[in-house]
Amino acid sequence: MYVNRYKIRDNILNMTKIAVVTASSSGIGYETSLLLARNQYTTYASMRNLKKSDELLKTASKENIPLKVIQLDVNDDRSVSNAIDSIVKENGRIDVLVNNAGFDLFGSLEELTIEEIKGQFETNFFGAARVTKSVIPTMRKQGSGIIINVSSIGGRIGLVPCNTMYHASKFALEGFTESLRHELTEFNIDVILIEPGAIRSNFAENIRTAKNYDSNNSPYAKTVQKVFEGFEPMLANASDPKEVAQVILNAANSSSPNIRYTVGKDAESILKARAELSDRELEKWVRESFMDKKGFIRQ
Ligand SMILES: NC(=O)c1ccc[n+]([C@@H]2O[C@H](COP(=O)([O-])OP(=O)(O)OC[C@H]3O[C@@H](n4cnc5c(N)ncnc54)[C@H](OP(=O)(O)O)[C@@H]3O)[C@@H](O)[C@H]2O)c1
Repeated sequence: MYVNRYKIRDNILNMTKIAVVTASSSGIGYETSLLLARNQYTTYASMRNLKKSDELLKTASKENIPLKVIQLDVNDDRSVSNAIDSIVKENGRIDVLVNNAGFDLFGSLEELTIEEIKGQFETNFFGAARVTKSVIPTMRKQGSGIIINVSSIGGRIGLVPCNTMYHASKFALEGFTESLRHELTEFNIDVILIEPGAIRSNFAENIRTAKNYDSNNSPYAKTVQKVFEGFEPMLANASDPKEVAQVILNAANSSSPNIRYTVGKDAESILKARAELSDRELEKWVRESFMDKKGFIRQ
């Protein structure tokens, strides 16, 4: 079937667009939900714990923007289907899904349990797959939609030791996105990636560390110490989550969005290094940048 995606997008521009954002309680999700609502998207700012919604609701009400809060835990089948079903019931459509929920599991592979590793994938990968799966029937029937997956520059390149499972979960999200694009293109559903570098949010505070890690006895204690020191220059140069929100809004508004968007000087610098260096040279540069606390902004 021939689908004129630009015509469909133009028609949609004339009607109220419905956006769903996961993990809107803080950071990137919080700013993205507000920005979409400020730009006429009826926005469902979802979060797993509604007790964290006060500030967002207060801001939305003060600005009189179309933002609603809804409970959605990306790890939970029932929570996802309840949320998406009720949004579809209310509006009959979903135009934009932002899969943003994620956290960082920190620890050496040797010291992490399989349960902890599965927990990392449950949120960062299966969570996105679960919510995406639940919006596809609606987007397919309406013949349009965009799914925006918040990955990381760490989904393109392994950067940080003892962060292996975070990197792996984001690499999985990247492969998922690239492949899903092929399967949804005939239904005029776009699937794209956002790849931020370091962003100022609650991300660092929300890091979960391997339960078996013992700083007094771990063979990785020296590496762990260096990693925490390596985070310092990264966080010092971190970008505002509003920048990520703006990139997401631009992608949602575009009639022909890119497949990937990087956000932040560090992310751009890392990609440039990747394009210019061999695999071995890149690995050496990454290791020196991080472990010698130089940061990833290449001079
Ligand atoms: N900050 C960075 O440097 C950075 C860089 C690259 C990519 N990213 C990615 O950006 C995304 C957002 O992170 P952020 O920087 O905004 O960090 P953040 O401030 O820590 O926000 C993470 C959000 O994920 C939510 N969340 C965790 N598990 C969830 C679940 N099972 N269901 C629903 N929500 C869940 C948290 O909810 P609670 O409030 O309930 O805990 C919180 O709202 C993540 O996917 C992250 O990997 C971040």
